[in-house]
Amino acid sequence: MAEINKVAVIGAGVMGAGIAAHVANAGVPVILLDIVPKDAADRSAVAKGAIERLLKADPAPFMSKAAARLVTPGNVEDDLGLLADCDLIIEAIVERLDLKQSLYAKIDAVRKDGSIVSSNTSTIPLAALVGGLPERFAGDFLITHFFNPPRYMRLLEVVAGAATRPEAVATVSQFADHRLGKGVVRCKDRPGFIANRLGVTWLQAAVVEAFDRAIDIEDADAIIGRPMGIPKTGVFGLLDLVGLDLMPHVNASLAGSLPAGDMFHDLYRPAPLIEKMIAEGYTGRKGKGGFYRLNRAEGKAKEAIDLTTGAYRPQKKADVEAVKEAGRSLGKLFEHDSAAGRYAWAVMGRTLAYAALLVGDAADEIEAIDEAMRLGYNWKKGPFELIDDLGVAWFVAALERSGLPVAPILTAAAGRPFYRVVEGRREVLRLDGGYAELVRPDGVLMLADVKLTAKPVLKNGSASLWDIGDGVACFEFTSKMNSLDPDTIDLLQKSIRKVAKEFKALVIYNEGSQFSVGANLGLALFAANIAAFAEIENLIASGQAVYKALKYAKFPVVGAPSGMALGGGCEILLHCSAIQAHAETYVGLVEVGVGLIPGWGGCKEMLARWQSLGRLPNGPMPPVIKAFETISTATVAKSAAEAKELLFLRPSDGITMNRYRLLADAKAKALSLVEGYQPPAPPTFRLPGPSAKVGMDMAVDGFRRLGKATAYDAVVSSALAVVLSGGDTDVIAELSEDDVLELERTAFAGLVKSAGTLDRIEHMLMTGKPLRN
Ligand code: NAI
Repeated sequence: MAEINKVAVIGAGVMGAGIAAHVANAGVPVILLDIVPKDAADRSAVAKGAIERLLKADPAPFMSKAAARLVTPGNVEDDLGLLADCDLIIEAIVERLDLKQSLYAKIDAVRKDGSIVSSNTSTIPLAALVGGLPERFAGDFLITHFFNPPRYMRLLEVVAGAATRPEAVATVSQFADHRLGKGVVRCKDRPGFIANRLGVTWLQAAVVEAFDRAIDIEDADAIIGRPMGIPKTGVFGLLDLVGLDLMPHVNASLAGSLPAGDMFHDLYRPAPLIEKMIAEGYTGRKGKGGFYRLNRAEGKAKEAIDLTTGAYRPQKKADVEAVKEAGRSLGKLFEHDSAAGRYAWAVMGRTLAYAALLVGDAADEIEAIDEAMRLGYNWKKGPFELIDDLGVAWFVAALERSGLPVAPILTAAAGRPFYRVVEGRREVLRLDGGYAELVRPDGVLMLADVKLTAKPVLKNGSASLWDIGDGVACFEFTSKMNSLDPDTIDLLQKSIRKVAKEFKALVIYNEGSQFSVGANLGLALFAANIAAFAEIENLIASGQAVYKALKYAKFPVVGAPSGMALGGGCEILLHCSAIQAHAETYVGLVEVGVGLIPGWGGCKEMLARWQSLGRLPNGPMPPVIKAFETISTATVAKSAAEAKELLFLRPSDGITMNRYRLLADAKAKALSLVEGYQPPAPPTFRLPGPSAKVGMDMAVDGFRRLGKATAYDAVVSSALAVVLSGGDTDVIAELSEDDVLELERTAFAGLVKSAGTLDRIEHMLMTGKPLRN
């Protein structure tokens, strides 16, 4: 298969710039072109300005500032020649067929044979885009529909035309999957493809029904949100986030392109209130506010709009009886005899009925539709998984009762589920009523699949150990947010013994949205409140011992994080033989935020890393300063690439772009280390002692005077400085790992008894935010 080694993106607007940044995140050089602005001194000012904006944007489009160097800005008048050696040219200019087509003609004149051209269009059919263009162009052309923001949204919809070369589709799909980390969903050349057609219909249903039924928007978001595994922004919160002004365009485009009789038309009608809001600048979070707003005139009061009067009123806390009574049962919610229950069904009944109608139209496979909603709208479950939860028979009966259409796929199901597991194989229903096996692509291994057939090797309330084949075991955290507690440490200890006897290697991995948020603070606070300090000290000591045992185990241990790996969750990674991290991994030693210092070897490991890998000037001081800067400011790396810069990851650690490929990559890495594996040699530390501590204290004092550090920050930093400088050590003395661990324990024990620390922990538990005491 052809490889993509150089990319061009044309159009440096919201999407083009974001796509270019993400191509750079993959380590691939990218040309970014836009128009020449009128009378501009710098003819490439648009693309250059876009890169500057990317560097300032939050959340960051670049995974590391270094990636920005891979983007070369230019303009479409002087620099089209740069396309000649590009393997993939992505067009992301304004949504106008005439402009896109005239650009294609220019691209086609300069591009090399076999290069691929794609459009990011969200509404123009592929057939129209290639209409009138040469056969060579049509053969190399497809639609690659990214979602905003391109780095973070995992969905990529790919549409191929009748003339598109299958190799071109395969090459782009492979690149998007492996290098960009996208979940590639093949769609037919139908309006809105899959995700927006269904997603917009869903949003529109929720809005129209809320207006008709005069539902408070807080309640609407509480109903059409969490209970169905939809992000808690719900519907109105989501519209505020994406911008209210986008909706009329997308709605009009779908209404204009979908055939008569399509269910979408039933929901398409003007919303005068929304039009008025847009006209007055209430376009959502990017504007003056949206359905929700912070009223700055009223001291940042939180307000919500009343759909009936169109006036803002104080925001209320949603308290929906139906949601509480239904618990985890979606069916109970839909059947609940209340306004909320009826609203839930009116919205989701239609949405799910429409999803079923899309089978054979927008896509042939139901799993494509589910994936599009999971990755494009962050639903936990796709529509067909939701219908399976309800039961197909229940759902069909409910549709019939409501006079909603029953799609052919529902008839084909004949009461059977869309997904089933037969002898460990996952199967999915097809339109002909048969089931097809759902096979994961090569290089994809999911722990969820392993669990379909296997029993854990070891298990307790906070963790499990699994056999993932080929002599590799997988340690999984299973607690809430994957926080760490005595049970986790206990099972880890047992697992180390088990793996030593029965396996070749260990991977630490889970499929939660966060790898681990660190130690369970609730338990820590409880223990501190009853003055069970011995328990806390025990937990610190046993954590240190077990993490050390992990480090010196005679088999390789590969940590495979995705999402947050904070505090103790970061420290476990610091003790692994190697890491294979998902690109979207956020690592940090954030203990100071709750008035503590890293006590499970985090200080020790960061010192050791800056000593051996830091490329710092000679002497004991530079590594100490680096570790102090990182830990005392609770710095969190916002990507795996940044984690390497901060030495939370080593230069040799691996990064996997696609979340689905993480476990298989980690397992392969673990197996590659097995032959001749030797645990690392223990580091020794030459630390600068008390005079260095004074220096660090003075630095913090300076920050305090500038108002950048609080009084209690100084206390915590000072305790950290004692550990990192080596306590009362003399500059010539060499400290062992155990010496530094003892310093960690002593500092930790002192802090955890302090009121300032307990206030911080309590505040964090109550609000999720650090207390600035
Ligand atoms: P935008 O308006 O932010 O950016 C368009 C850029 O294209 C501008 O910088 C403009 O100067 C440039 N441009 C216009 N004509 C050009 C030409 N002939 N040659 C070179 N550059 C030219 O638009 P946005 O939102 O980035 O959309 C771009 C494409 O992506 C559209 O096809 C849109 O439908 C699609 N899309 C947009 C999404 C979104 O959320 N904004 C999501 C998915 C797809």
